Amino acid sequence: MKFFVDTAEINDIQELHEAGLLDGVTTNPSLVAKSGRNFLEVIKEICAITPGPVSAEVASIDYDGMVAEGEHLSKIAENVVVKLPLTMAGLKATKHFADMGIKTNVTLCFSPNQALLAAKVGATYVSPFIGRLDDINVEGMELIENIRTIYDNYLFETQILAASIRTANHVTQAALAGADVATIPPSVIRKLADHPLTKSGLDAFVNDWKGTGQSIL
Ligand code: E4P
Repeated sequence: MKFFVDTAEINDIQELHEAGLLDGVTTNPSLVAKSGRNFLEVIKEICAITPGPVSAEVASIDYDGMVAEGEHLSKIAENVVVKLPLTMAGLKATKHFADMGIKTNVTLCFSPNQALLAAKVGATYVSPFIGRLDDINVEGMELIENIRTIYDNYLFETQILAASIRTANHVTQAALAGADVATIPPSVIRKLADHPLTKSGLDAFVNDWKGTGQSIL
């Protein structure tokens, strides 16, 4: 499973890229607002740091507006992926970009039927939102499992990008369910390395090594 980081914070992206943990980046209007940065500038900077796909979301919700904005965004860098909402207008715009050979990420997917539509119009990625379904007492991970089954049944090439990931457990479950990609907040990526037995084991090794009085170098 590929790891995208779900943020518009340059420092986090740089750190995770240097750690070799980053396959791509996703942003959304809320994350850009939170960063306080100029959208076009921040996307340009992110694209320069990461060689992987960088999702940049259109702000318009009508077809013409989405097409104009998406074409503009796609010119920022070769690795820009145009992110579009899962609406009828967004699907039509996705088809437009697919025909042009421009990669797309269809976002705000909450049902298998929506994912089916995204695949039919040639989306590169579909983003099912796990956490927001869990928030309303619906099992978000079942959506990933169902989309996996549907896409495999019909050999759709659209990649399942598990989004709205809130916990380390979501990451494990998304991988088990066969998501192609998970987009994960930086804080959750850092938690994936933690284990109490790793910590206590390392503490013991460090202590015992000190007791030998030796040094490797
Ligand atoms: C990713 O593309 C989504 O914008 C993001 O994962 C949403 O996460 P949230 O539900 O935690 O805001």
